Amino acid sequence: AAPAYTFIARTSEVEPDYALQVQVEGRPPLAVVCLEGEYFVMDDTCTHGDASMAEGEIVGCEIECPFHAGRFDIRTGAATVYPCTKALTVYPVKVEGDQVFAALDAGHCADDAA
Ligand code: FES
Repeated sequence: AAPAYTFIARTSEVEPDYALQVQVEGRPPLAVVCLEGEYFVMDDTCTHGDASMAEGEIVGCEIECPFHAGRFDIRTGAATVYPCTKALTVYPVKVEGDQVFAALDAGHCADDAA
């Protein structure tokens, strides 16, 4: 069956190079990022500690944790800079008009593929 897509945000709410935290009822918060016109949705909580990645900084195609400056690749969720060693789960994204959707039942963790 095709995955069900959940509304995440309007494109106008997602500023370039600035992650937006999104709450979807019944699950941990998500972060949505726009990189060069492409949208990415991932878990917002750092895999190293209880930090909101949306409060961190975007550096190139990576997002830096506001707590200990670990980083993840926004496109794959893979941990790239210590002390982050476990990937963030990322979700397939679909943009329709000015709305961003993500398939929250089809999350992908880069560690599982390795
Ligand atoms: Fe994110 Fe430590 S909580 S790097």
